[in-house]
Amino acid sequence: MNRKESEVFLRLDPARLPQHIAIIMDGNGRWARRRHMPRVAGHRAGVTSVRSTVETAARIGIPALTLYAFSEENWRKRPKTEVDFLMRLLCRYLKAEIRTLNENNIRLRYIGRKHELPPVVQREMAEASEATDSNTGMILTLALNYSARSEIVDAFRSLAEAAARNGGLDHLEVTEQAISENLYTRDLPDPDLVVRTSGEMRLSNFLLWQLAYAEIYVTQTLWPDFRGTHLLEGIEEYQKRERRYGGLGQDPGHSHEHAVPMAHAESKS
Ligand code: FPP
Repeated sequence: MNRKESEVFLRLDPARLPQHIAIIMDGNGRWARRRHMPRVAGHRAGVTSVRSTVETAARIGIPALTLYAFSEENWRKRPKTEVDFLMRLLCRYLKAEIRTLNENNIRLRYIGRKHELPPVVQREMAEASEATDSNTGMILTLALNYSARSEIVDAFRSLAEAAARNGGLDHLEVTEQAISENLYTRDLPDPDLVVRTSGEMRLSNFLLWQLAYAEIYVTQTLWPDFRGTHLLEGIEEYQKRERRYGGLGQDPGHSHEHAVPMAHAESKS
């Protein structure tokens, strides 16, 4: 950890670290434009940010980190040259990073419709995750060709298919738990904190079900400028928030409100 990181880290409460952090990496294009460089230069610079963020998260003991690397919409709406560049960058990252991931005891996983990615990318992905499979530390999940709505559609389809195999509609189980257990993230806790870089106030179809109660931290920093220190600053901000999950919180000033009927209570979610 560098000096700035240690300074912020010392202000954190190690007992209240988020168990799962999700990051929307945004601003690569703007970073490049400000430097009169092609957009892809921003993506290339973004890899250094990925490396720094992943290492810091693992070192301070964050159990799960999920990075939104590539959405289904990116795939359809960006020029082919940019998409191809991102695919090559990803393959290079996967190859180059296995050693660092292993040194930091990190397991690599993916969410998204993998089967729609080019076969060569799928092979690199499988190799990298297999190479880190026996690690026991942080779970790093890359969202690739990911869309939260598609994920929910896929979850409902697998529920319906399970019911069909099991004797029909009478066996269709639609509960929150059943839906959660059929999402791509079934083995992960819901994120406590979602970070978005470059100042945009949107979720952009990322983990819509799982982020129901997450704290949102938006920083103006563009993704290629983002480092471990910025992550720690986000965690510091998270630790200042009071999480209520729709309840009334810990503030003693609220205690009398418990008698207020729900229909009249101020919305606290
Ligand atoms: C958003 O910036 C970023 C992306 C669409 C791609 C993210 C990819 C990386 C950070 C590098 C590769 C990732 C891995 C995991 C190796 P934007 O292009 O939408 O920026 P803009 O909004 O400023 O145009």
